[in-house]
Amino acid sequence: MKPKVIVYKKVDQKVLEYIKQTCDVVYFEKLDSQNYSEFLHALKDAHGILGVGLKIDNSLLDQALQLKIVCNVSVGYDNLDLLELSKRGIMAANTPEVLNETVADTIMGLIIAAARRMPELDDWVKTGKWDANLAEKWFGVDVHHKVLGIIGMGGIGTAVAKRAHFGFDMDILYHNRSRNPDAEQIYGATYCSLEELLNQSDFVCLMTPLTPETEKLMGKREFEQMKESAIFINASRGKTVDEEALIHALQNGEILAAGLDVFEPEPVKKDNPLLSMKNVVTLPHIGSATMETRFNMAMLAAENLVAGLRGDVPPTLIQSEVHTKSLD
Ligand code: DGY
Repeated sequence: MKPKVIVYKKVDQKVLEYIKQTCDVVYFEKLDSQNYSEFLHALKDAHGILGVGLKIDNSLLDQALQLKIVCNVSVGYDNLDLLELSKRGIMAANTPEVLNETVADTIMGLIIAAARRMPELDDWVKTGKWDANLAEKWFGVDVHHKVLGIIGMGGIGTAVAKRAHFGFDMDILYHNRSRNPDAEQIYGATYCSLEELLNQSDFVCLMTPLTPETEKLMGKREFEQMKESAIFINASRGKTVDEEALIHALQNGEILAAGLDVFEPEPVKKDNPLLSMKNVVTLPHIGSATMETRFNMAMLAAENLVAGLRGDVPPTLIQSEVHTKSLD
């Protein structure tokens, strides 16, 4: 008998076909209040699930007694209670690496858009205000030859460092749990304390995964440590920033501008003060959202699912201590 899996996110037909070769699939293009009880019903005897963002905790796992593997279609896995999954011998997999270059493109886009005020000027042109030469009050600031501070030098951070070093002649500072020799040797990145990075950078890019240690990593004190001319970029998770402190820093000129791809909660609340600030560029969490990369992420997640249920080690298993178990 084929194992039963739930795919709870829209994926390309080719990905679905690949999973169907070895699994019986219950497919939800997305989960909502209409189909959630149907999802829970299917979960009771599901061996694997694949999707993104769903909180997988004790109470959900109590309803999934056959579960062997959880596959995130994302590099981040802050939605997973990893300790609980490991305790229950359930494998968890994510999709690292395949999205690095795409997310790095998004981050460079945010840096440039915020520095050169592109959304504001786009609006200026489209609303017919371009009837005179651009006044100085619309000028932005340079990106090239500036100092870029990267907090979290993993695969995405390194891809940003590559662009910044080779494309923009930027000096790179970084702060990370461990040193990244490649980033140092190839892209000239200098390791430093968080405080030094905040003091010296013209652009501060936050790219850490969300963990208990990184929650609200950027707060009042950290924004105060940044230059008044600096631009803050967040492409990690909304919760890594104390949003009130960010709003305060922007409103009081403690920093110049921000580029944000992530919020807490998502979708962002319509009355969030950040949305009415001209010096804030906002995106709807699209770091990895290109056709090609989302396909590659979904395919990698599917490969994890199929491998795990076949009894092999999933290519990007998160918890190395949880050994693969074949289906009974
Ligand atoms: C990721 O892969 O973690 C991106 O942020 C999309 O969720």
